[in-house]
Amino acid sequence: MSTSTDPTRELVDPLIPRSIEVLKAGQAPSGAFIASPSFTVYRYAWLRDGAFCAHALDVVGEHDAAEAWHRWVVRSIEAHRPMIASATNRVASGETPPPEAMPPARYTLDGALELPEDDDPWPNFQVDGYGMWLWSLEEHLAGQTLPPELTQTVELVAAYLEASWRLKCFNCWEEFDGGEHASTLGAVYAGLASAQRLLGDNRWRTAADEVRAELLARYVSAGRFKRGANDLRLDGSLAWLAVPFGVVLPDDPLMQATAEGIRRELTGPEGGVYRFRGDTYFGGGEWLLLTSSLAWHDAVTGNAAGAEAGQAWVRARALPNGDMPEQVTDCSQDMSMVAPWVQRWGAVATPLLWSHAMYLIAEAARSR
Ligand code: BGC
Repeated sequence: MSTSTDPTRELVDPLIPRSIEVLKAGQAPSGAFIASPSFTVYRYAWLRDGAFCAHALDVVGEHDAAEAWHRWVVRSIEAHRPMIASATNRVASGETPPPEAMPPARYTLDGALELPEDDDPWPNFQVDGYGMWLWSLEEHLAGQTLPPELTQTVELVAAYLEASWRLKCFNCWEEFDGGEHASTLGAVYAGLASAQRLLGDNRWRTAADEVRAELLARYVSAGRFKRGANDLRLDGSLAWLAVPFGVVLPDDPLMQATAEGIRRELTGPEGGVYRFRGDTYFGGGEWLLLTSSLAWHDAVTGNAAGAEAGQAWVRARALPNGDMPEQVTDCSQDMSMVAPWVQRWGAVATPLLWSHAMYLIAEAARSR
């Protein structure tokens, strides 16, 4: 999956070179990607955001930048090996460690844990980013064998995923909401499936199959995926379950019904995708990266019109200098909740690196 975007399209779409520029400018010398350079609360490096940033750079041929991120992940994880191994062992022996004993969702740009006094307390126990890292690593290697010096890190992370996926945790939106989330399990499935292929050890296939069975048994209702085991709502992140997580095939009727549900029930008047109904973060607006995620699914399933409509919507929300925000609030679900968030944390994060990443990935999928 490492073809680059169509060069003729780059000539007519300045958002492609601009997006590459934003990602590279947001990469610290350590290799970490800052989530957003202009939004204080997002001055950290999340594994989730970073996996898609690295993958976007891979699909446009910027392999060295992607490689630098993967090397940063390995160093950061290895620096916290005792904590990750201990969390894994505690869970495997039946304990439920407190969230602060679990591996973090985000690191400082130097790969350290954030200090509690540096910020608002953060809901750090989010398993999905670790699965996303393994998925993006396999994509980065593009069929090459895993460099031997990475074997132990991949094993450590796979063991952590295998042990911890049954625990309730925060979701990709960093909210607890019942603690059981389809897109988190999708990311865990993808990570374990990648671990099996990278390491050639069927232990990880068995674990991946268990996660997939759980998803199909408890996270499906009325012929489509639902966001939580006990939450019938849709969620924009369900768009990732086939592409890229591979839980089902992209054209599986279950996935197609999920994607059509997102398109019909989870979009604003002009087609931007909401995270979920009832979202109030900055009023619960439409997210660029989710709109591009649906476009990515559409491109892979041959729905060229859907993919173009989504990407056109995103394109029109970029600022004149090409920077893409996290979300747009003009059609937010709860307009009364926009100002309180602006007062608390400042204007919507812009540029948000993974908005640019998803745009690039969907464009690459469209040109294939
Ligand atoms: C989002 C996360 C994201 C983080 C940094 C949060 O508001 O919910 O998905 O990882 O911002 O971009």
